[in-house]
Amino acid sequence: MKSNIIASLLCLCTTLAQAQQFTPVPLHWLNTHPTTTTGVSWGMPWPQGQVKKNTTFTLLKADGTSQPVQSWNMAYWPDGSIKWTGFAATGDSASDKLSLTMVQGATQPAVAQPIQVNEDAKQVLINTSALQCTIAKTGNQLIPSLTINGKQVAINGQLQCILQNSPDGDLDNAPVRQKLTGAITKVQVEQNGPLRAVVRINGRFSAADGSHSLLPFIVRLYFYAGVQNIRMVHTLIFDGDDQKDFIKGLGLTFGVPLREQIQNRHVRFGGEDDGIWAEPIQPLNGRRPNPYIMDQALGKPIPNAESSQAQGVTLQNMARWNDYKLIQNSADGFGIQKRTNGASSWLDVIGGKRASGLAFAGDISGGLAISLKSFWQSYPAALEINGMCTNMAKINLWMWSPYSDAMDLRHYDTMAHDLNVTYEDVQAGFSTPHGIARTSEIMIYPYTAMPTNQDLANNAAEANNTPLLVTSPEYLHKVGALGMWSLPDRSTKGKQWIEEQLDKALAFYQQEIDRREWYGFWNYGDVMHSYDASRHSWKYDIGGFAWDNTELSTDIWLWYSFLRTGRADIFKMAEAMTRHTSEVDLYHLGSFAGLGSRHNVNHWGDGSKEVRESQAVLRRYYYYLTTDERTGDIMHESAINADSGLLHVDPLREILPKSKYPTHARFGPDWVGLVGNWMTEWERTGDVKWKNKILVGVNDFAKMPHGFYSGKGKDAGMGYDPLTNHMYQLDSNDIGSLHLATLMGGMEMAYELTPTLNNKDFNRLYLQYCSLYGAPLEEVQAAFGKDVKVTLGDPQADYARQPAYVYFITKDAKFAQRAWDQFLPGKQPRFGSTRFDWQVLKGPMVVKPLYEIRNVSTNGTAQWCLNAIELLQLAGDAIPEHNPAWDK
Ligand SMILES: *[C@@H]1O[C@H](CO)[C@@H](O)[C@H](O)[C@H]1NC(C)=O
Ligand SMILES: *[C@@H]1O[C@H](CO)[C@@H](O)[C@H](O)[C@H]1NC(C)=O
Ligand SMILES: *[C@@H]1O[C@H](CO)[C@@H](O)[C@H](O)[C@H]1NC(C)=O
Ligand SMILES: *[C@@H]1O[C@H](CO)[C@@H](O)[C@H](O)[C@H]1NC(C)=O
Ligand SMILES: *[C@@H]1O[C@H](CO)[C@@H](O)[C@H](O)[C@H]1NC(C)=O
Repeated sequence: MKSNIIASLLCLCTTLAQAQQFTPVPLHWLNTHPTTTTGVSWGMPWPQGQVKKNTTFTLLKADGTSQPVQSWNMAYWPDGSIKWTGFAATGDSASDKLSLTMVQGATQPAVAQPIQVNEDAKQVLINTSALQCTIAKTGNQLIPSLTINGKQVAINGQLQCILQNSPDGDLDNAPVRQKLTGAITKVQVEQNGPLRAVVRINGRFSAADGSHSLLPFIVRLYFYAGVQNIRMVHTLIFDGDDQKDFIKGLGLTFGVPLREQIQNRHVRFGGEDDGIWAEPIQPLNGRRPNPYIMDQALGKPIPNAESSQAQGVTLQNMARWNDYKLIQNSADGFGIQKRTNGASSWLDVIGGKRASGLAFAGDISGGLAISLKSFWQSYPAALEINGMCTNMAKINLWMWSPYSDAMDLRHYDTMAHDLNVTYEDVQAGFSTPHGIARTSEIMIYPYTAMPTNQDLANNAAEANNTPLLVTSPEYLHKVGALGMWSLPDRSTKGKQWIEEQLDKALAFYQQEIDRREWYGFWNYGDVMHSYDASRHSWKYDIGGFAWDNTELSTDIWLWYSFLRTGRADIFKMAEAMTRHTSEVDLYHLGSFAGLGSRHNVNHWGDGSKEVRESQAVLRRYYYYLTTDERTGDIMHESAINADSGLLHVDPLREILPKSKYPTHARFGPDWVGLVGNWMTEWERTGDVKWKNKILVGVNDFAKMPHGFYSGKGKDAGMGYDPLTNHMYQLDSNDIGSLHLATLMGGMEMAYELTPTLNNKDFNRLYLQYCSLYGAPLEEVQAAFGKDVKVTLGDPQADYARQPAYVYFITKDAKFAQRAWDQFLPGKQPRFGSTRFDWQVLKGPMVVKPLYEIRNVSTNGTAQWCLNAIELLQLAGDAIPEHNPAWDK
């Protein structure tokens, strides 16, 4: 008893002491602050040792009052202190200037009305106070009912899919179609208040007669205390046969009860930007003046039929429009149509360029709005509202529009194109989409009164820019979060020149995405690999030069750029890229699970299936900043599955003969990719089993004669046993160069691993690896003996961060100079004095006005920018004063 009291006193003192040292961390909204009460989740990092487990936090508002937050541990330091904390809170327009602070357990402000989650064998009931939602545990109605204080606003929330057995376009052989609905297989409450509840639903699309069941899906529903909306994150995994299964439509549908007379019912669609297309079901502006038309247009109540004979006669005679659709068939155009009934034609209403993705169906006493994030960017998409003249409307949000061609996931050609000629690496059976996925984000907004157009515009804006609280770049930098990156600094001519190049590179790609239209359901988020100046086009149709698929860490370039600037526009690019590359460019099930696909004309077309595209290192930024559960699952899958993937697909099967070891791996990108997965799993769970996997390899390398260079030949192949995680030299004389280990996220992984692992052997080997890459022969011989007759790697700009790292650790000025010499343009700069200057193309030589940088390749851009960002941090104090690039 006594010792218990002492223990708790001690505990309290520690918490008090901790809280006293803790300076509140300012937070701001990444985009504008929310306009209505809504939920937000975000992640924050801490330096090692600062935040203990079970710490409680609170949000401070500008007026000094505090607001409760929910928090959970996302990652741990090896000493058990917290590395990343996830937070959830509700925010509104009043919560503009916030900061986060630590409090002693007892003084955390209580949540006035915590979210209520009640679960039984059949269903989960959520009550946020502002909204009551039923989630079924079996069947195909994911959300049987949405209620606001006793009033049912929507029913029968279902996923639906239309599948056909052949592609569209063959007029003599019409495809046979089948309708499937999303059938629930498992429901799990992942988080249960007080402020946020998360429910995960797993299922498969199934035919009503049970004849067909395929296409697994994962839906997460996010609820916040006191909040009237629901956020849905929907993932579809393709496990069909690309020759036989063509998805014609993929959507979410709800029934919306209508209680008012026809003249008081309305539909709304989000148009361009904050535009809203708004119409009553029965517009009353006929031949005779009608006193109600202005009110009706605004969605205000107008008299019922019984109110007067004139009103009755008007309502009897004016047309009633039952069905509506908005179809976005390309990134450039949408069209709206409506019809009175199924026996009558569609009427074209109006069109526009890029619709915001919102639909509302309801009447003056309420209804439902749903909005798809990145709607036009993910075309073909559609919104559809049916049955507005019945007492139950149906609202459909189509993530894949059934009014467009069916999804065709077959490879782009039936023959492989030679690697040496087209840079493509295609092998039979490998160009398969079996196992790829796509995640879509949807906001659901129930209403018990007619929303104004402004309300709906706000909803669409929120759906497209998920609210996020972020800390400043300075804070993230001070904490050393997520690697080795510099804050922008224009204090010298050289630094200013570099910042200009970085800005131009981002601006160029940002505009290229738009000008070249890198959009579409399966493409949005990715960029192209290389440019073809002869056609003024990217090589979208040439073998291994088309989609980038993370080649040379494009994702990390964007995330480092966000971390150092805090710019919302860069976040949007990076977020779209992570969503794309983490879903489409890797396999979530099947024999390639845990591996990704190399760059190709189709994202999944290349025969090279590797860890380099599936590695967690590419996904950590988005996960930790947003707490996104789906991304967390993907990183976990990679850690669990990559080893069996490597056993199944030897990454060097085309280059090296089979050895006595189960498969091959290189120090990088394979082993460093696996290490990044294990590091992430270790810090997320605190389970040292993952750390031990890393140490197995470190200990193996420590015994090898050439450290990390102990692989065979230019690909540095080694033996690998995925069951034990041991790495083996194929021959004790092997020594090989390792350029991909640096370029494919290995360096960025190591920046994060080094302080976490804190292992002498790893540190020594890594420093050796960085100091010998591109070093003169004497230095290699000094390290490995006179028998070694090879240099290791080219001293090129892409690898400049290796000597820079050696300088950072040792402060040996020779390495700083080597880094800057490698990185900066020499007397005759290869790219001219500016790196990312574009030319404008117009007139008959191009299809429309375009820009180009003639020799641009994304691998080059990503690596140049990453090196720049890292060099400024590692060796910024040693940047030369003069260089032809900025001495003009
Ligand atoms: C944290 O709290 C949990 C339950 O509230 C308790 O079981 C655990 O021992 C606490 N951990 C520490 C480090 O205080
Ligand atoms: C939902 O919670 C509120 C209080 O937070 C309560 O007044 C209401 O009765 C609850 N509704 C249901 C259906 O449980
Ligand atoms: C690749 O192509 C080049 C140029 O045509 C040729 O010299 C080389 O031998 C080819 N390499 C292989 C492995 O076929
Ligand atoms: C980057 O891609 C280009 C082709 O666009 C290729 O010539 C170059 O070798 C690649 N760079 C690296 C380091 O792989
Ligand atoms: C593009 O690169 C090629 C080969 O490196 C070079 O010959 C050519 O001059 C470059 N073109 C431009 C416009 O920089």
